[in-house]
Amino acid sequence: MDNPIRTAEYLARLSKRRSDLQGQIAGLLPSAAHFVCEFGCGHGHFLAAYAAAHPDQLCIGLDISGERIARAVRKRDRAKLTNLHFVHAEARDFMDCLPTDATLADVYILFPDPWPKRRHHKNRLLESDFLEIVARRAGQGTRLFFRTDYEPYFREAESLLQQHPAWEITPGAWPFEQVTVFQSRAAKHYSLTALRRRSSA
Ligand SMILES: C[S@@+](CC[C@H](N)C(=O)[O-])C[C@H]1O[C@@H](n2cnc3c(N)ncnc32)[C@H](O)[C@@H]1O
Repeated sequence: MDNPIRTAEYLARLSKRRSDLQGQIAGLLPSAAHFVCEFGCGHGHFLAAYAAAHPDQLCIGLDISGERIARAVRKRDRAKLTNLHFVHAEARDFMDCLPTDATLADVYILFPDPWPKRRHHKNRLLESDFLEIVARRAGQGTRLFFRTDYEPYFREAESLLQQHPAWEITPGAWPFEQVTVFQSRAAKHYSLTALRRRSSA
């Protein structure tokens, strides 16, 4: 049976973490923020280069690894990029803690952990429920850019996006190239772009 004291402590910690994250995000975003988001940004190679090339766009990168975010923040500070922020957060927690008036511009998911074993697929970032969460916060014309070196994950992502009512896979060139840490280690990679459908709720 659960220990009620430990459960209460756990719930209190969770609630504190959530309100800290909400406060942090609210402190970074202007009201009605519309921002480019990279989920699982690692050391921030891609988004730092992207933000430098697009100074008029607000960019937020997030990662569940505090050590990677610390490196990304150092990179941002060295480059003095005022339109870029990195947040230490789990992707779903981040989306949960966004202010209600914040919307996503383009979204990048680059070389997410592939979790090759079937019983671990539930840990993958790009899952149907996550596509729904992202779609709810997407603005008009939001595109989702997905890239991986693991072909089975690519096929699965393709199939999830094809079946999802909020998204449609669209042709088109990758809008901005910057080799990430994991891309530099990959022999080959697969990319797709999906567009947030207009009519979906
Ligand atoms: C394989 S690495 C890729 C990093 C970077 N995008 C690159 O291409 O070099 C996957 C990254 O996703 C992060 N990550 C995994 N699951 C996550 C989640 N649920 N929320 C946020 N970040 C996550 C990991 O900490 C890791 O930094």
